[in-house]
Amino acid sequence: MTAQPPDETGPMDDDWICARLGEDEPWILGAVNPPVFENSLFTFASATELGEAIKDEDERYVYWRGTNPTVDLAQRKLAALERAERAKCFASGMGAISATISSLVSAGDHVLVLGAVYGPTTQFLRYLEKFGVAHTHAGDLDACERAVTPATRLLYFESPSYMRYEIFDIPAVTRWAADHGLVTVMDNTWSTPIFQKPLTMGVDLVLHSLSKYAGGHSDLVGGVVAGPSRLIRPLALTEYQLYGAAMSPHDAAKVVKGLRTLPVRMSAHQERGLAVAAFLEGHPAVRRVNHPGLPSHPGHRLAARQMAGFSSLFSVELATESRAQVAAVVDELRHFRVGVSWGGFESLVNAPALTVEESVRVTMGVPVGLVRLSVGLEPAETLIKDLDGALQRITP
Ligand SMILES: Cc1ncc(COP(=O)(O)O)c(C=O)c1O
Repeated sequence: MTAQPPDETGPMDDDWICARLGEDEPWILGAVNPPVFENSLFTFASATELGEAIKDEDERYVYWRGTNPTVDLAQRKLAALERAERAKCFASGMGAISATISSLVSAGDHVLVLGAVYGPTTQFLRYLEKFGVAHTHAGDLDACERAVTPATRLLYFESPSYMRYEIFDIPAVTRWAADHGLVTVMDNTWSTPIFQKPLTMGVDLVLHSLSKYAGGHSDLVGGVVAGPSRLIRPLALTEYQLYGAAMSPHDAAKVVKGLRTLPVRMSAHQERGLAVAAFLEGHPAVRRVNHPGLPSHPGHRLAARQMAGFSSLFSVELATESRAQVAAVVDELRHFRVGVSWGGFESLVNAPALTVEESVRVTMGVPVGLVRLSVGLEPAETLIKDLDGALQRITP
């Protein structure tokens, strides 16, 4: 199905994809919202017809665990946003990550992980060791060059990286990977396709947790992988079906709803996030702010080259080594709620030193004073005042 809008709406752009793509097909009773197809199965006029459909269960509506028209609508929008041929939605971001990696490796293969990635992604790679799949973490392309082996199949990364928000030169990474015959997979959850389109920079498969900005309302868990049909179709027919992490039509309807406002929400998140980050950067109780949108960030120029904007998840290194002081700051905040996840309408705070095991914090390479903020859609002045008050708890 084409992603082109009707002639009168002008060239395809992200706003059009988010607001309108696929929403009138089928256009039932003139309803402004497409129906939610609450069907665990679809029926056929004959057994022969059903048999034909089963052979192509990735594209045909047969059973919910394969696909569904509402899930398909979300997939079409996400594929168009990522400039991908195909997208496949999952019950969670981890569902997308585990199925994607599994589809690309076999026993004896090796995976390279560039930079810091989401913790459970690393845990999944460790889990794969029992099936004979090895992995190595590398901090940059020089380290990748040293770690690559004839068994390496896949290079996996995030940019910005997890927790530290380090920026990788995506075209350079994908050129290097292509020279070594590796498939590249990138988690683009932080930027959303509104701010970064990795496939246009040579990445083979891009994936997201839809539970963050894409959904945007903290009312769903979902994931997606997008890329060329030659890579999506095999995983849709095998890992998608066998692991069973299928997205429900109800969650797909929430994804569609979230996507309609994604471009406007992202510009509001960007503005508020940068205002809060700039305030924190000048605060005496703050050692460092890890936000690639700040000109002081070491990757800012590169980020500005390959990204169209910046989301509002970043970390702050408080000027303290004391867990008690970090806890006092977090507990003092009134407008940042304490919780995992990010990318929703509500501002959130999390402090790894207080919430993860010490060995995990050390492995993550994050200092005791590191606090992660997800800036929501509240007024920036309210959030700044809240932070200013809480930071008084840092004493020399
Ligand atoms: C960067 C990143 N990728 C993937 C995931 C996993 O997504 P989900 O929680 O939807 O399984 C998360 C969740 O926090 C994440 O932060």
